Amino acid sequence: MTDDPNALRAEILRLVGAYSRLVHAANRPAGDPLRSGFQPAAPVVPYAGRVFTEAEVEAAVAATLDFWLTLGPEGDAFEKELAAWLGVRHTVLVNSGSSANLLAFAALTSPKLPAGRRLEPGDEVITCAAGFPTTVAPILQHGCVPVFIDNDPVTGNARVDQLDDAYVPGKTKAVMMAHALGNPFDLRAVLDFCRCHDLWLIEDNCDSLGSTYTMPTAEGTLTKPTGTWGDLSTQSFYPPHHLTMGEGGAVNVVSRAPLRVLVESFRDWGRDCWCPSGKDNTCNKRFGWQLGDLPEGYDHKYIYSHLGYNLKPLDLQAAIGRQQLKKLPAFVEARRRNWQALRAGLADLEDVIEFSLPTHATGWSSDGFSWDASGCRTDPSWFGFMLLVREDAPFSRTDLVRHLDAHGIASRMLFGGNLLRQPVFHDLARRRPRAFRHVGSLVGADALMRRALFLGVYPGLDTESLEHVAEKVSSFSLCRRHG
Ligand SMILES: Cc1ncc(COP(=O)(O)O)c(C=O)c1O
Repeated sequence: MTDDPNALRAEILRLVGAYSRLVHAANRPAGDPLRSGFQPAAPVVPYAGRVFTEAEVEAAVAATLDFWLTLGPEGDAFEKELAAWLGVRHTVLVNSGSSANLLAFAALTSPKLPAGRRLEPGDEVITCAAGFPTTVAPILQHGCVPVFIDNDPVTGNARVDQLDDAYVPGKTKAVMMAHALGNPFDLRAVLDFCRCHDLWLIEDNCDSLGSTYTMPTAEGTLTKPTGTWGDLSTQSFYPPHHLTMGEGGAVNVVSRAPLRVLVESFRDWGRDCWCPSGKDNTCNKRFGWQLGDLPEGYDHKYIYSHLGYNLKPLDLQAAIGRQQLKKLPAFVEARRRNWQALRAGLADLEDVIEFSLPTHATGWSSDGFSWDASGCRTDPSWFGFMLLVREDAPFSRTDLVRHLDAHGIASRMLFGGNLLRQPVFHDLARRRPRAFRHVGSLVGADALMRRALFLGVYPGLDTESLEHVAEKVSSFSLCRRHG
């Protein structure tokens, strides 16, 4: 055997590639010639999953051979590449989408922000009632008050017509909400509202990487990805998401560069120093600071300006993320194509199923969407294919879910549904009745909770899998329709 480390490394990676091509065939993108196809005799159609090739496995092993371990060169590169892909000032990698939400919120509580701007306990933050719990948890975890508005059951997104009702001058400080299942919320309305009242906007973009929003401007139109319109936005890289690093996530600093230091400080123990791992004295006055009651010259590395956390991922995870990012344009395309295939395959079921529409769309046909008069457009990078079983359908959502499950087809609900009906909020309402409030009756969030489900559109689904799904939903509906 050679004792040349470069040759050894190359040989290890060659073998890893060969191994992965053999054993990970089922995880390759649909259409890849090495991928194992749909098995009609034992159909399995997941709602999501890891889609990768040998490139990710080789990158993970290469990073392991480097053995940097903690966030380092791969992390640095991935942060820059993702920021460039999105068109934001900075991206800060973290260990999950939930951590990203926590940090984005925490950053806005920093005493380094001007007194009137920073979020303080008791301040109100507008969010929507149906969705994922960790979009909302950071608001409560920081002693602020979530104010829930309803969701539109067709888009899954916040009902922006309720923003004004939720607003209280002097109390409302921010809006923090998710683009539902890849469908951008009405950014035009939300941004106008935030600008009018000088509010922060945190976009939870965990389920929407690659979605775009278009709005008219004085010069024509402006199209940008979701996650690049507010002050901060967040991503999740947990396996069902648009790209994965196993566990992982990111906070995007859209345009206000100083927010990056705050996000990083909360991620990295609350420290005041902003040197990356393995580097010292970036500020050129490591022993020249006097902060708090510390003696002059106290090592900046050990000066803490926030009550922080340690929420960094490993460099190995970032190495995987970098390979996934190269596949992202094709992944987004596949998600859009698969959504259209399901929509076309289920077109005859309008009488029993209410189909989701992109925000600002008013209808779907095989020729495309029709749009409202706002001039705004959305192009979702779908996380899932959402549908609602109609109130008067001859079957329930549970009937349909059970039927699909029996045929190997996975589905999911819109996460926590109306979060206010979850045990955690029930309990909170009993113990601390002023901890949160809501506007209106939340009928849309309830409809989503009772009648919505979503099916997979991820890039691992081939035509046969999608046809199987459409056939099983259609045959079940027809059968129930005719008694
Ligand atoms: C909208 C939304 N926000 C946040 C998260 C949390 O991400 P993670 O699972 O990486 O913590 C999820 C999880 O799927 C989500 O759907």
